[in-house]
Amino acid sequence: MAHGSHAAVEASTRRTFAVISHPDAGKSTLTEALLLHAQVIGEAGATHGKAGRRATVSDWMDMERARGISISSSALQFSHGGALLNLVDTPGHADFSEDTYRVLTAVDCAVMLLDAAKGMETQTMKLFEVCRARRIPIITVVNKWDRPGLEALELLDEIQVRTGMRPTPLTWPVGIAGDFRGVVDRATGDFIRFTRTAGGSTLAAQERLSPEQALAEVGPDWTTAQEEHELLSADDYDHDQDSFLAQDSTPVLFTAAALNFGVGQLLDVLERLAPSPSPRPDTQGRVRELDAPFSAQVFKVQAGMDRAHRDRLAFARVCSGSFERGEVVTHARTRRGFATKYVHSVMGRGRETLDTAHPGDIIGLVNAGDLRAGDTLHTGPAVSFPPIPPFAPEHFRVASPRDPSRCKQFLRGIDQLDQEGVIQVLRSERRPGNAPILAAVGPMQFEVAAHRMESEFSCPVLLENLPYTLALATTAADAPVVELRQGVEVAARSDGVLLALFADEWQVKWVRRDHPEVLLEAIGPGLPPGTAPRQ
Ligand code: G4P
Repeated sequence: MAHGSHAAVEASTRRTFAVISHPDAGKSTLTEALLLHAQVIGEAGATHGKAGRRATVSDWMDMERARGISISSSALQFSHGGALLNLVDTPGHADFSEDTYRVLTAVDCAVMLLDAAKGMETQTMKLFEVCRARRIPIITVVNKWDRPGLEALELLDEIQVRTGMRPTPLTWPVGIAGDFRGVVDRATGDFIRFTRTAGGSTLAAQERLSPEQALAEVGPDWTTAQEEHELLSADDYDHDQDSFLAQDSTPVLFTAAALNFGVGQLLDVLERLAPSPSPRPDTQGRVRELDAPFSAQVFKVQAGMDRAHRDRLAFARVCSGSFERGEVVTHARTRRGFATKYVHSVMGRGRETLDTAHPGDIIGLVNAGDLRAGDTLHTGPAVSFPPIPPFAPEHFRVASPRDPSRCKQFLRGIDQLDQEGVIQVLRSERRPGNAPILAAVGPMQFEVAAHRMESEFSCPVLLENLPYTLALATTAADAPVVELRQGVEVAARSDGVLLALFADEWQVKWVRRDHPEVLLEAIGPGLPPGTAPRQ
């Protein structure tokens, strides 16, 4: 395994990012447009699997295929200018799941994609919160500017109010939403004019005009854009790299991904402004330098991608050193060797064998039965990166085997899914037979769990809905007091954390009022119990 003399140099060319958005804001369309611009694909429509389009890159599971949605994560690597961009795909369905969060532990930057007509939506906010908790810098993209939408200045206000970040537009639209002529390049003051191509599936033509030419050719729309651009500068809405990296500000771009407008600008911004991988602290707080021997952290384990082989594919982000296929790395949790003969770069269903990878790159490890999200792999001096803390679940179901004679398979299956992080498993003595409570961030996780129980463990399950919507950490000493309140239940998660489950905020308020001394602590994205509460 290479000791990473070149690792830091390689890392400096990497930009590892994810796109976060509410469903339908245009994430798949933008992904295609990015690939089109980076000349990975010749025509848009190659990766996106909605009805009428060609096969999706990530329809691994039957369920995904049936629904035409993407549950799994995949990573796409492509170059732009002098940079190698790693786009880590977040699951594209409406339902928020822990996988989405875990993906965000593997990136250095996020592109927050908004629909120009809708602004900040629920899912955007949730994902933004995760990025904020993990201190991931955010580039904001206002998409669908070719359709009627909110005013650009109004959108800036909304971003500022909802996220607390100062929006600093790098481009400014010429023409109102619905009549997208092009953008002012705010660094130079030039006009970048976009021209539609039929169907938007090939690169849109773009030309750069001086402000004088723009005024002559565009007229009043140019003047308006120019005035707004000047107003923004006067009010200090200009880009500042330090405040962007500190998450105090967010650069903003305007696009119409479906027409490929503004997408080249986004690639330029990712290359120029997005941070490259930096050294990560380990569990002891010591930093593993980029040039140290190889280390990587698993952020997701995907099962059943290749039904013929029933394999497990673990996705890991390289944190230090350079990876070379074939050598044996150490699995930090078990101290066992892990052979990397079969390591792939992963682009949806297509797998290409990967020979080298550097910090920031995502590698797919096959036969990864022992690997779990959060695990560290390394060569050289031992290292463990901090585990990925579980999210606070919001949905709860009691699980039991449909066929009671298959109890053993049931318990094995549930245990496996728990370990893999597909679902959280809670136990409460109150439950007859100690039936496990499955807990999830989004209800889709139950479907995935049920599907796996049936297809892999031949054990169809019954899931009974529980009325809870909120989980707060408590202590063993406080649990009996908390449970005095009717309708509140305390259950132990398999990591030992005791979770008090409530139907709503009111229940929490009652308990706090009656027993102010009990510990009820929020657990949230990146916030294990004991850190600042965030709900
Ligand atoms: P998602 O992955 O975030 O869920 O969104 P997706 O890309 O699937 O886009 C959702 C819908 O928005 C799609 O329309 C897509 O064509 C449209 N869209 C995306 N970007 C733009 C844009 O810049 N301008 C306009 N006008 N529309 C955009 P659809 O009707 O659901 O699908 P389709 O029939 O167009 O494929």
